[in-house]
Amino acid sequence: MDSMAFAGRPEPSPEVTSGRILVVDDDPLIRRQLQHLCEQQGYRADVAEEATEALSRLEERCYSLVLLDLMMPGRDGASLLQEIRRRWTTIDVIMVTAHGTIRGAVEAMRLGAADYVTKPFSPEELALAIRRVFDRRRLLDEIQNLKDQLAERYRFGNMLSRNARMREVFRLVASLANTDVTVLITGESGTGKELVARALHEQGKRRQGPFVPINCAAIPENLLESELFGYEKGAFTGATVNRAGKVESAHGGTLFLDEVESIPLAMQSKLLRVLEERTVERLGSNERMRVDMRVVAASNRDLAQCVAQGTMREDFYYRIAVIPLQLPPLRDRREDIPLLVAEYLQRHPLAREKGIDRVSEDAMAVLMDYDWPGNIRELWNVLERAIVTADGRSISRVDVGVGRENEQRGTSIASWKQSLREFVRDAERWYVEELLKQYRGNVTQAARHAGIDQATLHRKMRDLGIRAAAYRHA
Ligand SMILES: Nc1ncnc2c1ncn2[C@@H]1O[C@H](COP(=O)(O)OP(=O)(O)OP(=O)(O)O)[C@@H](O)[C@H]1O
Ligand SMILES: [Mg+2]
Repeated sequence: MDSMAFAGRPEPSPEVTSGRILVVDDDPLIRRQLQHLCEQQGYRADVAEEATEALSRLEERCYSLVLLDLMMPGRDGASLLQEIRRRWTTIDVIMVTAHGTIRGAVEAMRLGAADYVTKPFSPEELALAIRRVFDRRRLLDEIQNLKDQLAERYRFGNMLSRNARMREVFRLVASLANTDVTVLITGESGTGKELVARALHEQGKRRQGPFVPINCAAIPENLLESELFGYEKGAFTGATVNRAGKVESAHGGTLFLDEVESIPLAMQSKLLRVLEERTVERLGSNERMRVDMRVVAASNRDLAQCVAQGTMREDFYYRIAVIPLQLPPLRDRREDIPLLVAEYLQRHPLAREKGIDRVSEDAMAVLMDYDWPGNIRELWNVLERAIVTADGRSISRVDVGVGRENEQRGTSIASWKQSLREFVRDAERWYVEELLKQYRGNVTQAARHAGIDQATLHRKMRDLGIRAAAYRHA
């Protein structure tokens, strides 16, 4: 077996249990005989004399099996077989061929027929061929059901996991969803913090209300206050209209404070007051508005450490860390990798279009071995690229090529195996890492040096699985 069995889910076959058969043969006697035989076996059977009639029958009804004569006047069986396999992938075809056309039969198998019988055939022979097809269909169907059940068992909202620690997180999310307690989600970049935050919102009583995310790291310090609290016209130069802040917009729903560690100390105390009183005041106004919201915060840093280092106020920390939820990195739950891969292939439109539904064993070994500093987001990026380069139905080792970033640099160009896109991406990674090293994880300064805005740099870092925190104390 060169490919593993976590293949993507095929479309559910529209009809498997009822077993309707279409008999296509130009000879009225044989047609009748075949139909009769099918009915004797307990299947419903319809007949068609030639290709056009067969196609219109197939369009009208769901069939499991077609018994198809190879030699017919007009369009022959082989070409009809091809069309059936192309248009109705779940229908099986048994070719019925006259003696002496064994080569045609071999060709038919190559074109995707499930089996063939040669004329003249005995009733037993045909019954056996039909039974084999239906047995196989039932088996495939059972396997599919089992797979579906398994997939459902590991699913929680938009998340998938079979890892015990993640299952515990799911359980907590389910029990916390209907409460208003503030939850702090921590975990490395790309571990699913935002998904968990959304799950808390979507499974709770506030699901009809808005989910308002704010990435505290992507907003320059001087804009954070007006972004959070809003402002009245004339509050400062440039405030030409009244604007509601994120806090106010979260009324009735959930406010998601992402990368909460990057809120400056002064802002933390202002926000603390909002969280304690559940009221907010727009800049330039002296009217406090009540806000009824749930607060969820996320960070990829250890906030207790931030408190110890003096970058986070202790009272603010206790306010947001009422219930901490920690998401394990992907390298600590490698058992999820095959599950996540199967899920991605199933959902990806290009993978579906190209019929890519598996990963070769050695490619899977690479994915299982790698450390995934960018976690699931990095896994998605690797798969995205692999789907583009994959040739055939299976993703190969070459397609996944993770962790070979700088391996090829410095060698002669003839030996480079990377596409331009990969090369540019690697160069980008190197550049961003060097920059963060130089500025000790200060994204504002790094962005200024790079001549791009902070939000763009943050997005790039996320895509590349690079965390500023890793450079802060280096
Ligand atoms: N358990 C999971 N099952 C399926 N997909 C997941 C799971 N966890 C994360 N993902 C996917 O991984 C990607 C990253 O998730 P998310 O944005 O929630 O991470 P994050 O922890 O907020 O990362 P960052 O710290 O970089 O903001 C998303 O595309 C998300 O859909
Ligand atoms: Mg996030």
